[in-house]
Amino acid sequence: MKIGIIGTGRLGSALGKMWAEKGHSIVFGSRDPDKAKKLATSIGSNASGGTYEETVKFGDIIILAVPWSGAKESIKIAGDLSGKIIVDSTTTAAPHLGGALISVTPSAAEKVAKWAEGADVVKVVHTIGVDSLNKLQFGTQQASLFICGDNLEAKSKVKKLGVDLGFDVIDAGSLKNARLIEPLAMLWIDLAYNQGMGTDIAFKLLRRRKAR
Ligand SMILES: NC(=O)c1ccc[n+]([C@@H]2O[C@H](COP(=O)([O-])OP(=O)(O)OC[C@H]3O[C@@H](n4cnc5c(N)ncnc54)[C@H](OP(=O)(O)O)[C@@H]3O)[C@@H](O)[C@H]2O)c1
Repeated sequence: MKIGIIGTGRLGSALGKMWAEKGHSIVFGSRDPDKAKKLATSIGSNASGGTYEETVKFGDIIILAVPWSGAKESIKIAGDLSGKIIVDSTTTAAPHLGGALISVTPSAAEKVAKWAEGADVVKVVHTIGVDSLNKLQFGTQQASLFICGDNLEAKSKVKKLGVDLGFDVIDAGSLKNARLIEPLAMLWIDLAYNQGMGTDIAFKLLRRRKAR
């Protein structure tokens, strides 16, 4: 797939590297295009770098991997997002990991959908530390990844990208259900940092029946 990644921080660069290794075409977008180009060069094949706008023009799927505080501005800088699939990967954690920055109604993803007019937004709640993205198997269990969105085709594409990383992807329903799944990230952060469990933890949905 053609994937544009907005933000060259820890999450964006880790995801881009893993997907490039899986054969996807990646364009990293940065407010400083030289930074994005250097990152792409360090990855090698299947990756290049540019501005947020160039990233959006290239990608069929755009990953929003910026802090919540910069999300609205990043979307504005990114330009015309209509017809694109936007993966909202933001977590609305407050500084010092002390809870959420925004209330759950409306969710961050619903706000992103309002700002990114004409785009199909899929929320992905990364309840895993970026350092554990390459080790999603916990014994016999595969870490779950909760996603939601209103467009089934968009969700199916995002699901494939999650499966490529090694997640057990759970479709949690419509975009409105981001109100239900976004708080899972707050719980994960609290367990990892405030309750002393560390970042090598993940959530798992247990099912008796085969997954859909
Ligand atoms: N790290 C994790 O383990 C993890 C896990 C789950 C979810 N998340 C979420 O994923 C998002 C990105 O996390 P991250 O760890 O990659 O963050 P990060 O390392 O701080 O990088 C965020 C990137 O966003 C871009 N950006 C755009 N506007 C910004 C602003 N106003 N201030 C600072 N940076 C801005 C920057 O890229 P350019 O300078 O290239 O534009 C920056 O490198 C966050 O919402 C975070 O909560 C992170």
